[in-house]
Amino acid sequence: MAVVTSVINLKGGVGKTTLTIALAHYLAAEHNRRVLVIDLDPQTNATIALVTERRWRERDQGGQTLFQLFKDQLDASHLFSPQEAILPRVSNVGGGIPGLDLLPSSIRLHRIQDKITKITDLESFRSPTVYALREAMRDLLPHYDHVLIDCPPNLGIITLNGIAISRYFLIPVVPDILSTLGVPLVLDRMADFALRAQHEIFGLGIVVSRFRASSRLHKQTVLSMRRDAIPGIHPPIFNSIITEDVGIAEAADVEERVVSLRDKFGGNGPHKQFSALADEYLRYVGG
Ligand SMILES: Nc1ncnc2c1ncn2[C@@H]1O[C@H](COP(=O)(O)OP(=O)(O)O)[C@@H](O)[C@H]1O
Ligand SMILES: [Mg+2]
Repeated sequence: MAVVTSVINLKGGVGKTTLTIALAHYLAAEHNRRVLVIDLDPQTNATIALVTERRWRERDQGGQTLFQLFKDQLDASHLFSPQEAILPRVSNVGGGIPGLDLLPSSIRLHRIQDKITKITDLESFRSPTVYALREAMRDLLPHYDHVLIDCPPNLGIITLNGIAISRYFLIPVVPDILSTLGVPLVLDRMADFALRAQHEIFGLGIVVSRFRASSRLHKQTVLSMRRDAIPGIHPPIFNSIITEDVGIAEAADVEERVVSLRDKFGGNGPHKQFSALADEYLRYVGG
């Protein structure tokens, strides 16, 4: 069965999408795992970082993206087909990585977000809208070793669809005060969801992202995060740290073909970091 992990933080700009796509690349290309990225964010950043705009527009105009999954909930229709929506062999590394697939998002999701929330009874967590993704993916998930879900920076109904199929969640944080403040809230809401929806989900870890070694604040925050983490209550902080690096920021460009992960993710330094992160991830999930 696939190991499913949501990458989540209520804050934007902390590296959720970057971490999701990098981890997906390394699991697929360095570890030969069958990997699916699910882009739950209406901003479609992960989608656009994995396929060219042309390929995405074709799919979006054909109507087969996660937008259709949620539109079906509103219209009581059954038009969404995950088989048709999933884009195989994505990425610009070597013209596409075998075993790296994407379930794309659409900016049209923005428009229906509020309407979906209105039809959902979140008090009970029994609303079928919370489990739309689970139902749709039931037959396909077993085809993958790893599923990584790029979540939007909120805990709305779309995000809950990802949580409902996840065994784990990962929280990327930028090590400054504002960015770490939201972590207890995420932990709290995950525990609440687990209890009320009777769905076990485990905090796999916190990943320090966009770390600047020249910043005293960053260094101190990482130290105190490690010092104050209570085992069994707080998810562990990954040993692997991702530094702030222009090469990493440019990894989102898929229009130009590159030959290796090292080229894509900004050279030796970032390559070693992501590679170590993927190893650590695999150790923790035992997959
Ligand atoms: N380690 C990093 N070094 C430099 N830039 C980064 C790094 N991680 C992310 N970025 C950039 O920061 C911005 C926000 O990152 P992103 O992964 O989209 O965050 P989120 O998904 O949490 O909003 C993007 O422009 C991205 O390219
Ligand atoms: Mg994002």
